[in-house]
Amino acid sequence: MSQYYMFMMKYIAAALLMALLHIGCRTTRTTGNYQEPHRPQLHFSPPAKWMNDPNGLVYYAGEYHLFYQYYPGDIVWGPMHWGHAVSSDLLHWEHLPVALAPDTLGYIFSGSAVVDVDNTSGFQTGSEPPLVAMFTYHDMAGEKASRNDFQYQGIAFSNDKGRTWTKYKGNPVIPNTEGLKDFRDTKVFWYAAEKRWAMVLAVKDHLRFYSSKDLKNWTETGRFGPLANSPGFPWECPDLFELPVEGSTEKRWTLLLSLGSGGPNGGSGTLYFTGQFDGKKFQSDSPNGPLRWLDYGKDNYAGVTWNNVPDGRRLFIGWMSNWQYAQKVPTQTWRSAMTLPRELTLQRTADGVKLVQQPVREFAGLKNRTLQQQPNAAPWVLAEKFRQPLSAEIEFVLPENGQVAPFGFQLNNQDNEVLQIGYDAAKKEVFIDRTRSGMSDFSEHFAGRHTAPYTAVNGRIKFRVIADVSSVELFVDNGLLAMTETFFPNKPFNEYRLFGQGRPPGISKYEVESLNSVWK
Ligand code: FRU
Repeated sequence: MSQYYMFMMKYIAAALLMALLHIGCRTTRTTGNYQEPHRPQLHFSPPAKWMNDPNGLVYYAGEYHLFYQYYPGDIVWGPMHWGHAVSSDLLHWEHLPVALAPDTLGYIFSGSAVVDVDNTSGFQTGSEPPLVAMFTYHDMAGEKASRNDFQYQGIAFSNDKGRTWTKYKGNPVIPNTEGLKDFRDTKVFWYAAEKRWAMVLAVKDHLRFYSSKDLKNWTETGRFGPLANSPGFPWECPDLFELPVEGSTEKRWTLLLSLGSGGPNGGSGTLYFTGQFDGKKFQSDSPNGPLRWLDYGKDNYAGVTWNNVPDGRRLFIGWMSNWQYAQKVPTQTWRSAMTLPRELTLQRTADGVKLVQQPVREFAGLKNRTLQQQPNAAPWVLAEKFRQPLSAEIEFVLPENGQVAPFGFQLNNQDNEVLQIGYDAAKKEVFIDRTRSGMSDFSEHFAGRHTAPYTAVNGRIKFRVIADVSSVELFVDNGLLAMTETFFPNKPFNEYRLFGQGRPPGISKYEVESLNSVWK
C-alpha cells in the first residue's frame, strides 16, 4: 500500500512538473520574438497563436485600434476572442491584452467599433466619449444542438481608450428571432445626414441594414441581395462607406463584401460595389454588371476599414490568408498576418468608377536604402542579392507591336525556389506564380499560378511590389489592380531579378529598396 502511495505521489509530482513546464513554455511563446521562420517583418501578426479577421477598426486619441479574431489556445481556429493592438502610424504595433473573451452568450465573432462622441449610448462615465464595439455572438452549444438561432449581435463599451471593456447587460441587442444560421459581422458607422447610427450585417446570401439612435435599439431598414451571380457563400464581413470620385465633385458609396468561397483564384475572396446609400439600403450602380474583386490574389480576406480616421482617409486592412488552407500553413507558433494597411480611393476609368488601393503613405518611412535604380544590362540573367523585406517599383514599356513573352520580377533562393510576379501581354493577365515557391504540400489549394485579367494602358504597365518574408502585395498602375499572396520558402528568398524570354520590354522606371522591419 505504502509503495503504491509513493508511486502515486511521484506520479502526481511528475504530472505537476510537466504541467508547469508546459505553461512556462506557452507563456514564453506568447511573447513572440518575431524572428521565427516566415515571420512577417512589415505586417501585423499576433505574438502567438491563431488570428483571422480584423475587427473593431477605429481611430481614437492618436491611436489606430486593431482588434482581431483570436484564439489564444492554439494555432488553429477555436473559441473566438478579440485580440487587440494599437499603433500611432499603422505600421508599428503595440500588443495589448485580449479585449473581449467568450461568455455565456457565446464566442465573440467579427464586428466593428465606433467612438460614441455624443454619448448616444449613455455608456460614458468620465470626461471622454466611450468606445462602443458591436460584434456577433456565436453560441457553440446552440450550433452543436443543431439549432438555427445561434448567432446574434451584442455590444460592449470602454471608457479607458479601449484598454478594458464591459459587455452590455442588455445583450443581445439584435436577437436571432428568425432562426438565421448565418447572421453575423456587424459594421456600424455614423450616418451623418440623419445623425444616427447605421449598420450592415451579412445573412448567408444577402445583407441587412439597420438603424439606431443609441447603439442599443436597432431596426432593420433594408436589404441588398441575394445576387443571381453570387460566385460563392456565405456572405461575410460587409463594410459600407462614402468616397469622393477623384477629380470630380461626385461621391459614391462603396460596399465591401467577403465571400467564404468562389474567390477569383479559388477559396475566399472579397468583392466591392459602388452605388448609392440613402441611410436605409444600398443600390449598386450596375446591378447586372460584372462583379469586381477587391484583390485578385488568394490571400486577402474579410478586410474592412477604420472608423473615425481624423484626416478623412478611408483606410483598409485585410486578413492575409484563405479559408482553403489558413489552418494548415507551415508556421509553428502563430498563424496568419494582416495585409499592409491600405488607403482606398475611387477613380473614374474607361470601365466606370473603380476602387483604387495603395499602401498607406506612412509606409514610405520604412525605406532602409536604395538597392538599385537601373536594371542590369542583361536583365534576364543577373540576379541581385538582398534581404527581405523589399519594395520595388518598375514600369515596363511594351514593344509597339505588343508582342513580348510573359515577363516580370521574381524572388528566388539557392534551393531553386522561386516566386514570379508578371504580366502576360498575349493573355492580357497579371499573374503571381507560387507553384515552386517553397512548402505547399500542406494543401492542394496552395501551389499555383494565380491570375487577374488586365489590359496594359498606353503600352505600359507599372508594378509596385512589396515583398515581406512570406507574402507579396502587388499594386498595378498605382493601385488599379491589387494581388496579395503568401508563400513559404524553405530558405529565405535572397535574390531578385527580372525574368522573361527573348527581347525584354523597355523599362522606364526601376527602383528597388530594402525596408526596415517594424518589429525591431
Ligand atoms: C470570416 C468569418 C466571419 C466570422 C469569423 C469567425 O472569416 O467566418 O464571418 O465572424 O470569421 O471567426
